Amino acid sequence: MAKKKFARESATIMTEMVLPNDTNTLNNLMGGRLMHWMDVVAAIAAQKHSNRIVVTASADSISFKQPIKLGNVVTLESKVTRAFNSSMEVYIEVTAEDIPASTKITTHRAFFTFVAVDQNGKPIEVPEVVPETAEEEELFEGALRRRQLRLVLAKRMKPEDAVELKSIFNLDITK
Ligand SMILES: CC(C)(COP(=O)(O)OP(=O)(O)OC[C@H]1O[C@@H](n2cnc3c(N)ncnc32)[C@H](O)[C@@H]1OP(=O)(O)O)[C@@H](O)C(=O)NCCC(=O)NCCS
Repeated sequence: MAKKKFARESATIMTEMVLPNDTNTLNNLMGGRLMHWMDVVAAIAAQKHSNRIVVTASADSISFKQPIKLGNVVTLESKVTRAFNSSMEVYIEVTAEDIPASTKITTHRAFFTFVAVDQNGKPIEVPEVVPETAEEEELFEGALRRRQLRLVLAKRMKPEDAVELKSIFNLDITK
């Protein structure tokens, strides 16, 4: 197994058009459909990075601030930001485009975590991520903090072990 891979090697782009079957009664894209597409585009990025079967371990909070309209073209871009032991954090950015109106807006940004598993579903080691661009560096740096936050919330890490969160919550972890 390669010990390291560039972040760009996992980059994935998926394009969909919002059709009537994807919408709610207000003719806006259903949130669940968007989350499905996000899961798929992120899983592909995680597979590209690890060359393994991957499973979704978590999806960080997703808020739906702006509706995506029937007929819009939705582009989902994903990339692995950082890998740990068997888990990988994937960044997803979603844009909605009204092609006839020539408008394009970024509607969502989210982080999903995937775990590479073997044929028996047992977590397996993945290569490290090498960031190259300034954006990849920033995402890589923030990934440890986000990992600790989600593991504390999932009760998989003790708050006192989440040293990266100390500065955010101003915690004195020595007490
Ligand atoms: C994700 C899964 C493989 C973890 O298995 P596990 O036996 O708990 O394994 P471990 O405790 O060794 O954790 C393995 C990795 O998962 C990560 N992980 C587990 N739960 C997590 C969560 N809620 N959020 C983020 N990462 C998580 C751990 O941090 C660890 O990462 P690391 O190896 O990089 O340090 C297991 O819980 C699973 O199969 N879940 C179901 C996945 C699935 O079916 N998803 C689709 C939903 S329908």
